[in-house]
Amino acid sequence: MNTDAQVVYLNGEYKAIEEAYVSVLDRGFLFGDGVYEVIPAYGGHLLRLEEHLQRLQNSLDGIRLKNPLTNQAWETMFNSLIKKNVGDDQYLYVQITRGVAPKRDHNFPDHVHQTVFAMSNVLPAVPRAESEKGIEAVTLDDIRWHACNIKSTALLANTLLRQQATDKGAGEAILIRDGLATEGSASNVFVVIDGVVVTAPTSPLLLPGITRDLVLELANTHDIACQQRDITEAELRTASEIWITSSTREILPVLKLDGKAVGDGVAGPVWQRMIDIYQQYKQQLREGRA
Ligand SMILES: Cc1ncc(COP(=O)(O)O)c(C=O)c1O
Repeated sequence: MNTDAQVVYLNGEYKAIEEAYVSVLDRGFLFGDGVYEVIPAYGGHLLRLEEHLQRLQNSLDGIRLKNPLTNQAWETMFNSLIKKNVGDDQYLYVQITRGVAPKRDHNFPDHVHQTVFAMSNVLPAVPRAESEKGIEAVTLDDIRWHACNIKSTALLANTLLRQQATDKGAGEAILIRDGLATEGSASNVFVVIDGVVVTAPTSPLLLPGITRDLVLELANTHDIACQQRDITEAELRTASEIWITSSTREILPVLKLDGKAVGDGVAGPVWQRMIDIYQQYKQQLREGRA
């Protein structure tokens, strides 16, 4: 099937999105009691599937939920969804909740029938000229919990922070906790200081982004100096370049922070190099060579 009608996966079945329903007693609905993943696929090839499945496993462990499928079964399902939907490039969204309990109760139900949902959407290409225009970002206090390494569907703090950024005409909120830049509301943050690419180390205070890891790996293989260490707010404000990274936004330069130009106010030379390397990697993946 490859029509325009979107086909999704729900608890073992493929169905039209209009026919996919979940109970109002689902704990994902009542408590945000679930985890998710977002995985890009270029030309039908899933990007870093193993790493995404490992992070999914870590998230499930973090909320004490059993993994409902084997890695082989996940892969088969993801590939079927990609084939059933349109788009050369797509991104898969998958979420697992603790399912439907007989009544609303904070305690975990005795018998858990997880709800497993996945969908795939077109991933629009980001033309170089567009990404070069970059985004503005604002700094905001990181009001989230202390388990941001779990990719939880409970994203209220992230959505409030993103909306505050949007209300100020910015494309992302860069979050500050105890004087350090942790990450964006839906992205990781990189800065360039004295030519060195720096990103915060993984910890419970940020999501270990798959794009983040890929950027670090590609930088290493191309002899671009990089460090994983804390980024102070002062360093963020004086960095020559700031980038945000995520599976759907790739690597985007931040050209203004809190209304002030970052560096020269244009996409910087290290970003230019990194985005070329990233696009090359995507092309190799499309050709089945990565
Ligand atoms: C809070 C947060 N940090 C970082 C990221 C980037 O992760 P990835 O590169 O795996 O998309 C995301 C992605 O949505 C996110 O929501």
